[in-house]
Amino acid sequence: MTKVAVLTSGGDSPGMNAAIRAVVRTGIYYGMEMFGIMRGYNGMLEDDIFPMNSRSVANIIQRGGTILKTARSKEFFTYEGRQKAVANLEKRGINGVVVIGGDGSFTGALKLSTEFNIPCIGLPGTIDKDLYGTDFTIGFDTAVNTAVEAIDKIRDTADAHDRLFIVEVMGRHAGYIALHSGISTGAENILIPEAETNIEEVIASLSEKEKRKKLVNLIVVAEGDEFGGANQIAKIVKERLPHLDTRVSILGHIQRGGSPSAMDRLIASRMGYHAIESLMEGRHNVMVGVLNNEIAYTPLEIAIREKQSISSDWLRIVKILAS
Ligand code: F6P
Repeated sequence: MTKVAVLTSGGDSPGMNAAIRAVVRTGIYYGMEMFGIMRGYNGMLEDDIFPMNSRSVANIIQRGGTILKTARSKEFFTYEGRQKAVANLEKRGINGVVVIGGDGSFTGALKLSTEFNIPCIGLPGTIDKDLYGTDFTIGFDTAVNTAVEAIDKIRDTADAHDRLFIVEVMGRHAGYIALHSGISTGAENILIPEAETNIEEVIASLSEKEKRKKLVNLIVVAEGDEFGGANQIAKIVKERLPHLDTRVSILGHIQRGGSPSAMDRLIASRMGYHAIESLMEGRHNVMVGVLNNEIAYTPLEIAIREKQSISSDWLRIVKILAS
């Protein structure tokens, strides 16, 4: 009998529960024995592994967070730690693992599969959308929608006071949340790590808009921007344009919570189903992604290593629409 375990690891993201549900129910449909591992690789190490059935995943598709909880495990990144963890899988006869998480989680999965020959399938669960080989990651759409809702509200108060707001969004080293939320809220400037930040250009555009009496301005900054986020940008702007009424807002972990959007529930369900199908077809050590609305498989090492590029079109759109 095939025995498959599922875990969530790294930063949580809305839609992880929908993915767990899809993995567990598809596995059961195909007659597999399913297990849940608590707190990512920590639960594997601490033997916190339990059988799951269809009812274990009832009423979770709409919930944010993850019922399996999550963690970033240091011990798993030692060989001894992994040996201990694998012994806990082996004593139950677990012969497949579905890992829902981001690049750190996939690095762990890769080690499990290459060192101990345990077939692993990765599902991209991260709000950052920083994995190669997929147009969407589970949680990205919800995070962008949360940021958009917050920035729309900030624009109201910015407008009332004729203020400049510099809003920082998450994304770690990637600028996708900033780009998507910035375009969707009509931000005047969007600063992301994938494009060089020309601070002189930012200052010039703010001065030029001031001359045109365009007093409401929004700058959306990715936390991974080369200047180090919203506070650093605000410091420079305040020095150079002291007469502007400038405020900073850092959206923070609000972007990781909340009920997943329909889009995130949908891709999580599709990906979860295909994770089990992949194991049955003998695919190992791949990430299940969606490219051009088709399911696509990318070797885990490529999903982690390769960088996605942001087309220059996107940045042109920002410039033209913010004029
Ligand atoms: O990877 C998801 C993410 O939310 C990043 O956008 C952010 O940089 C990081 O996790 C925050 O991590 P923590 O919750 O450990 O502070």
